[in-house]
Amino acid sequence: MCGIVAYTGTTEAIEILLAGLRRLEYRGYDSAGIALQRPADRADTPNTPSTPSTSSVADTATPASTLAAEPLQVVRRKGLTELVTEADGSTRNKGMIEQLTEAVAALADTDPLRGTCGIGHTRWATHGIPSEDNAHPHRDCSGRIAVVHNGIIENYAKLRQQLTAKGHHFASQTDSEVIAHLIEEQCAGNGGNLREAVRTSVAQLSGNFALAIISADEPGTIVVTRNDMPLVLGSFEGGAIAASDNAAIIEYTRDLIFIDDRCLAVLHETGAIEYYDPAGEPYIPSGYHFDGSIEDAQKGGYPDFFLKEIHEQPRVIRDVIANRFDLKTKTLVFDELPLTDADLAVIDRLYIVACGTSYHAGLIGKYLIENWARIPVEVEVASEFRYRNPIVTPNTLVLAISQSGETTDTLEAVRLARRAGAHVVAITNRVGSLITQEANTVFYLHAQLEVSVAATKSFLAQVALITLFGMFLAQERSLLTGPQIAEIYGEMKQLPDQIEHILANTSAIKTAATACKDATTALFIGRGVGATTCYEGALKLKEISYLHAEAYAGGEIKHGPIALIDPLGLNDPSAQTPVVAVVTQSTTRDKMISNIEEMKSRGAQIIAVATEGDRRIAELADFVLYIPPTRECLSPITASVPLQLLARYIAEMRGTNIDQPRNLAKSVTVE
Ligand code: AGP
Repeated sequence: MCGIVAYTGTTEAIEILLAGLRRLEYRGYDSAGIALQRPADRADTPNTPSTPSTSSVADTATPASTLAAEPLQVVRRKGLTELVTEADGSTRNKGMIEQLTEAVAALADTDPLRGTCGIGHTRWATHGIPSEDNAHPHRDCSGRIAVVHNGIIENYAKLRQQLTAKGHHFASQTDSEVIAHLIEEQCAGNGGNLREAVRTSVAQLSGNFALAIISADEPGTIVVTRNDMPLVLGSFEGGAIAASDNAAIIEYTRDLIFIDDRCLAVLHETGAIEYYDPAGEPYIPSGYHFDGSIEDAQKGGYPDFFLKEIHEQPRVIRDVIANRFDLKTKTLVFDELPLTDADLAVIDRLYIVACGTSYHAGLIGKYLIENWARIPVEVEVASEFRYRNPIVTPNTLVLAISQSGETTDTLEAVRLARRAGAHVVAITNRVGSLITQEANTVFYLHAQLEVSVAATKSFLAQVALITLFGMFLAQERSLLTGPQIAEIYGEMKQLPDQIEHILANTSAIKTAATACKDATTALFIGRGVGATTCYEGALKLKEISYLHAEAYAGGEIKHGPIALIDPLGLNDPSAQTPVVAVVTQSTTRDKMISNIEEMKSRGAQIIAVATEGDRRIAELADFVLYIPPTRECLSPITASVPLQLLARYIAEMRGTNIDQPRNLAKSVTVE
């Protein structure tokens, strides 16, 4: 939910930390902060006691003399507080890192941020409102220890009470601040050994965390640790670095290191890193060489990552499909799955657990798997699954879908399923993410880094992969023949070109967006896989444009939601409720036409997603977004694209922050 970055080495840390935070901003953008060891600490009197200010030391109201007295330099900023007017008169919220960078620059004359060892944080608020006081890094009472934290400390209230009783003073409402005071307490008891203090402190913490800690008393040293939260480390010629995500590190090194839960790493300015297990004994971590491009994290000429990632979808689908079908044997290949024919034969139930967009991919999966493989499939929101008593046995196969691989509810659902003896297959986009360590089997989406908080390309990759897996299960159960699979696979190979065709013809989508951008609510209707396409389309619209939207199976409309259609719309176009109808070629197309007529005759404005050449729809709908013909089971992959673009254009017209919608985070690592 938050992002942390830490660097120690031979160059000035500030630029490396700010660059890292820019790459981690997608993880949370409520506030950001950095702490640096002062170079002078090494020569001066490191044990001079000092009291840290309780607000940002970069606050313009704070006198420079106070700043110089702080043993560590700390700058924090709350995000999205300043409105900027552009040259063309448009306005936007000033980005959090932009504000932090300006705050750092403002200190150049009074107390320049210099130093080669520091930590940074980008926050998605859980405990305590987004504010500068609650922004990380948090410090102990002396101001000599600073901590950045991603995760949640579940026993923080008790610890805070105990530490307060011992005389510690707290400056924030966060759960994280207890860690700084706990380490201070442990340091006092062990003669000031930071590593040992972190180890013994961590032993007292319940919950999940990735931590980076510096102390004014250990120049050039950073201690990091993690439990159930991502943390990746690396060393290079210029020093050593750690962060929540590869994206903040690969500019410096592509040889990435991962440590296990509650293990510690001590980063030194020489680039050396020491590793310790929870008992304090030396230990050897695991490594991984990352081949991805740093360009993945950049916009590549698009105004926002959301649009860039929509345009990456043809490539993503090509990659998901590639090499899954063996032309010689005419069979689908899922070599990652270690299950034998006998194992697969006894599977009597399949659960799909996921959240949000990934859940919608699961709903499409249910249609396809039940249709082809005839295995009963239950799709469940992970946050519900984990708190009930689902019927999971060793004969249950569980698919856990998570783009980030970090979603807490999905991880807990995976753990529950594993405890019950099920084989768990994780479908994720993030190499080395937590879910890959929890599941029995991992299918990677290989959609590359998705920066936009609202998912697009990872969703299409999930749907394509689960389509292939549904056919694979049917193949293994002899319910689809080689030629049947070859035919569908052949059509799947046309999907990238079809998506490119949609992306090259967007004028009707823009016109429809203009017509409904000022609506207060929108309905989405579809049937079969068209209904699930609508669930995702409505979520995209809500997420990025803040226009309220609901999706229903077409047949459900007359059971209630039709009351939302204002009859004034029959005479006044501005009173029309937009109804987005997915009505592609399918077994239920005619039923959908009846549903559209019902809505139209009551004053709705119809925006139809239909198959090219369907003239009947053009007679009924106000706007038609045509997509190339494809078989029904593959239609979610193409029909989703105009819905993504519709949401994108409406959001742009409404002036929202498309890549970072309010209140959302890319990885939801809290319940
Ligand atoms: C997608 O647009 C959303 N931001 C959100 O619903 C997301 O899909 C959900 O939080 C699940 O994330 P995951 O796939 O990383 O587990």
